[in-house]
Amino acid sequence: MITTVRKAIGACFSVLVLSSRTLAERCERSCLEGLISDYLNALVDHDPSSLPTTPDVKYVENEQILPLGTGEWHIVESLGKYNHTFSDPEAGQVATITTITENGVGAIYIVRLKVEKDGRISEIESQITRDSDGAELYEQRGQPEAVWFEAVPPEERIPRDKLISQTNKYYTGMQGNDPNGDYSFFDKDCNRLEDGLQTTNVKSGDPYGHSNDTAFASLTCEEQFQTGFLGFVTRIRERHFPVIDEERQAVFAITTLDHNGTVKSLPSVNGTSSPIPRYFETPRSLRAMEAFRLRGEKLYRIEMTLTEVPYNMRAAFPDVPPVDLSGPGTNFTTYPIPCDQVCLENVIGDVLMSIRVHDHTRLPLAKGIRYSENGQFVALGDGLWETLEAISWTDKYGAVLSDSKNGTAGYWGFSTEHSIPGVLSLRIKVDNGQITEIEAHVVRGESTDSRGGTVTLMRPPFPIEWEGNTTSFLNPIFQAYSANGEILPELLNAYFDGLEKHSSKGVPFAEGCTRRDNFGQGNLTCADQLDGKGSAPNGLSNTTTTVRDRRVLVADSKRGVALAVALVDEPANGPGPLSPAGRVPGTYMIPQLIKVDNGLISHIESVIKWVPFGYTSAWGEEDGKENK
Ligand SMILES: *[C@@H]1O[C@H](CO)[C@@H](O)[C@H](O)[C@H]1NC(C)=O
Ligand SMILES: *[C@@H]1O[C@H](CO)[C@@H](O)[C@H](O)[C@H]1NC(C)=O
Ligand SMILES: *[C@@H]1O[C@H](CO)[C@@H](O)[C@H](O)[C@H]1NC(C)=O
Ligand SMILES: *[C@@H]1O[C@H](CO)[C@@H](O)[C@H](O)[C@H]1NC(C)=O
Ligand SMILES: *[C@@H]1O[C@H](CO)[C@@H](O)[C@H](O)[C@H]1NC(C)=O
Ligand SMILES: *[C@@H]1O[C@H](CO)[C@@H](O)[C@H](O)[C@H]1NC(C)=O
Ligand SMILES: *[C@@H]1O[C@H](CO)[C@@H](O)[C@H](O)[C@H]1NC(C)=O
Ligand SMILES: *[C@@H]1O[C@H](CO)[C@@H](O)[C@H](O)[C@H]1NC(C)=O
Ligand SMILES: *[C@@H]1O[C@H](CO)[C@@H](O)[C@H](O)[C@H]1NC(C)=O
Repeated sequence: MITTVRKAIGACFSVLVLSSRTLAERCERSCLEGLISDYLNALVDHDPSSLPTTPDVKYVENEQILPLGTGEWHIVESLGKYNHTFSDPEAGQVATITTITENGVGAIYIVRLKVEKDGRISEIESQITRDSDGAELYEQRGQPEAVWFEAVPPEERIPRDKLISQTNKYYTGMQGNDPNGDYSFFDKDCNRLEDGLQTTNVKSGDPYGHSNDTAFASLTCEEQFQTGFLGFVTRIRERHFPVIDEERQAVFAITTLDHNGTVKSLPSVNGTSSPIPRYFETPRSLRAMEAFRLRGEKLYRIEMTLTEVPYNMRAAFPDVPPVDLSGPGTNFTTYPIPCDQVCLENVIGDVLMSIRVHDHTRLPLAKGIRYSENGQFVALGDGLWETLEAISWTDKYGAVLSDSKNGTAGYWGFSTEHSIPGVLSLRIKVDNGQITEIEAHVVRGESTDSRGGTVTLMRPPFPIEWEGNTTSFLNPIFQAYSANGEILPELLNAYFDGLEKHSSKGVPFAEGCTRRDNFGQGNLTCADQLDGKGSAPNGLSNTTTTVRDRRVLVADSKRGVALAVALVDEPANGPGPLSPAGRVPGTYMIPQLIKVDNGLISHIESVIKWVPFGYTSAWGEEDGKENK
């Protein structure tokens, strides 16, 4: 009744110019849907200039802040027909779940826009879920179920804050999923879609997710939570509820699901328990954008999409101030002051041992100590501190290096977490006898199996997948002392420039220099690899562009070895034929060990990890701030 009256008044006012001002101030459903439509059309036209944006509009793609018009804006070819839009005129927020094609392959595309009172867009938060099967399922579906679009009579609605608190129960219930929890917040007829696939009440006998369990998807929403099966989700943080579609009693939520890798088996669903899928044997974070339709106070429909980000990736649109992940320090014995080469290399041994025995409290840690994994700050005790089971030492595949002038030391070697092999690199900094910084990069082997293995969701396939089976390595090269092994910044920069230009011209390579990455070595020299000669496996496609955030982590001039990391962009906009890895925008994070002899680069050992396009390391950002 009330809505009918409002509509009637609205219709009148829209022709009464004098009275239109108050109405014009608020962008109602049709206005919000129009903006989404304009946005998608601009995206497919690769031209954001027609969009009404604020001067400081913030554009985010898979959790990375990018200039508007870059990344996905270069490559979307077409829009699919499925679209599911949520509108919140009160908050000036609108979001849609839809499909696109990128360089010929389908993907799920989700975007949220924030609209200011003057009608301009100030926030664009997008996610591309590169699951072509999921996109295809959506296309077959055509449109969302009609119930999503029904206007709920006002007397049957629950208010905004209740919509949020009921939805939040879903996340609280899933985090550490307790089989004895109270899951009565689910409607008995609740159903869930995950990347377009129905995963509740389906009797097909298909296995669920990465597991082999064929019973889970046959259960109701409530029965599923009562199994405790989802307990491998160890934390759900950054829970945002930006779009509350009160009229339709729908909530569009954005959260990060952390899987800390400690859960070793899944509880029994139908009399049989199964091991944790390999995908979840190492720490993972998945960003979820999903919608809920409530019926009364209960969750009736859930539509979820996911994409992977580096473990503990912070939100680009934080809802709450960032959590301080620095440690309180430990108050005991310090290392000698100053800490010389032997001392620093002992510290490396101590830190690796402490990670291995999952106990950081035994180390002399400075107050404010910071720890990072793959560029994200992580609390001490989290991440590798819970999952590392073995490392290789310098008698096998491993190298230790140090720079006593700077109080830094490094490690490079094999790691094992559950059944997952990887290459671990570590940097530590010691100041005033205590450890002030620990920076880890771990590039894990990736393998596929019938349930997706370890590579699903995150990225397109590489030309050759590295399963962690690198052959034994000429370790003495990196441990031996070097004549004139001075690590001049120009030397490393020249190499990074060569990598960027795909040319060995001007790169001071020693004759016979060898370079390996996790795709193998082939038998080409460093120069021939950069110049793209032959067909030896080489992880970097010739369509990569910028080599940025070049950081020398430890420079050991006695051994002539530098531990470094750089980020290499693959914008996926050509020219020429695109390899599968170059089909979508991505960034490669590349930790590497570089050997210098007689002033020339003689060996390079590197491992490549795919991260979302435009990724930046939290350390790199700090360096940037300090420089300003
Ligand atoms: C969504 O689909 C409907 C029905 O096909 C169509 O009318 C509408 O224009 C679409 N919206 C967008 C934003 O593409
Ligand atoms: C559960 O197990 C029983 C006994 O093994 C079997 O008969 C039934 O089909 C199973 N149900 C599902 C959904 O797999
Ligand atoms: C699923 O079954 C396949 C084939 O039996 C097996 O290789 C794989 O390890 C199983 N995966 C899990 C997570 O149980
Ligand atoms: C650290 O040790 C010193 C000397 O033993 C003591 O005075 C101080 O209270 C300790 N601080 C903390 C935080 O425990
Ligand atoms: C990792 O998850 C397990 C299981 O939920 C939990 O017991 C543990 O405290 C978590 N670790 C951290 C560092 O939060
Ligand atoms: C080792 O990895 C390569 C790909 O790099 C793969 O082709 C090969 O089958 C793997 N070998 C073993 C023994 O797993
Ligand atoms: C390099 O490897 C290729 C393929 O394995 C082989 O055909 C070629 O003879 C090798 N070249 C040299 C110089 O070893
Ligand atoms: C990149 O390499 C592919 C084959 O690997 C080749 O066809 C293409 O021409 C190269 N592109 C450029 C710009 O060098
Ligand atoms: C070592 O310290 C010097 C002086 O503070 C600095 O210029 C240099 O970049 C540092 N080197 C490394 C590898 O951290």
